[in-house]
Amino acid sequence: MITAVTTAAVSQWRRKTLGKVVFVPTMGALHAGHAALIRRARRLAGKDGAVAVSIFVNPTQFGPNEDLSRYPRPLRADEALCRSEGVDLLFRPDIREMYASDFSVAVSEKSLSLRFEGAERPGHFDGVCTVVAMLFQIIRPDIAVFGEKDWQQLAVVRRMVRDLKFPIRIVGHPIVREEDGLALSSRNRFLPPDARMMAPRIFQALTAAAMEAEGGAKPASLERQLRRDLGRIPGATLSYASIVEETTLEPIGRFTSETKARALVAVKLGGVRLLDNLALPIAR
Ligand code: PAF
Repeated sequence: MITAVTTAAVSQWRRKTLGKVVFVPTMGALHAGHAALIRRARRLAGKDGAVAVSIFVNPTQFGPNEDLSRYPRPLRADEALCRSEGVDLLFRPDIREMYASDFSVAVSEKSLSLRFEGAERPGHFDGVCTVVAMLFQIIRPDIAVFGEKDWQQLAVVRRMVRDLKFPIRIVGHPIVREEDGLALSSRNRFLPPDARMMAPRIFQALTAAAMEAEGGAKPASLERQLRRDLGRIPGATLSYASIVEETTLEPIGRFTSETKARALVAVKLGGVRLLDNLALPIAR
């Protein structure tokens, strides 16, 4: 594995790399969910291709009251995971490599970004789009793999790639869960024990909604049920629970045979913001 800390070193590597390049952008604190993304990237790259991973805790996607300074940075363990998963290039720039001190240009998605996470965390997706666009320019991948846990992020990145004509295929990889259903996230380590015990109830609420959807329940009733179930988790504060069209993230008034629906939820538990989502099988 080559570790690069400068864009110049990545460019040099890129010039010599002839096969398909598949990219997994991360903020580090890697866990089994990231390992699954890297393995997916490996399969997509094929035997002649290469897998590139970036680790960069991007300050522009954190709000002023968010946990940038406390975001975990276990660099040694992250490097070991990348090496053992057969990553070809690890790019881990520092902030000066990514942002000039008088940095003044940003990429802003102006529709999908305004809802859900974007409404709760103003400017978050501008930070995500800007850094992902920069990483795409630096790595120049053929394919990029993103986890489906951050479903809204995936939808926003797809929109950016479509609208700005990046010649990159975006692949979403299914959520990896703990045995009890909790979606893996770098932030789970901050859950106090009592909150950790309650956290699987988020996935239970989602699976109950999926079963009701299959049985013919309407979107409004599913949302009510989800909000009720999530609201009953001891110590939880509900941010949102919505049934949306999976690409546009528009609310769904009525299911039709064409609808691709997804339930998106965010809950604050034990001081930690937990996101989850699930595709809803619609009764046809
Ligand atoms: O999902 C993440 O880890 C980050 O938002 C990303 C895509 C690496 C951009 O900083």
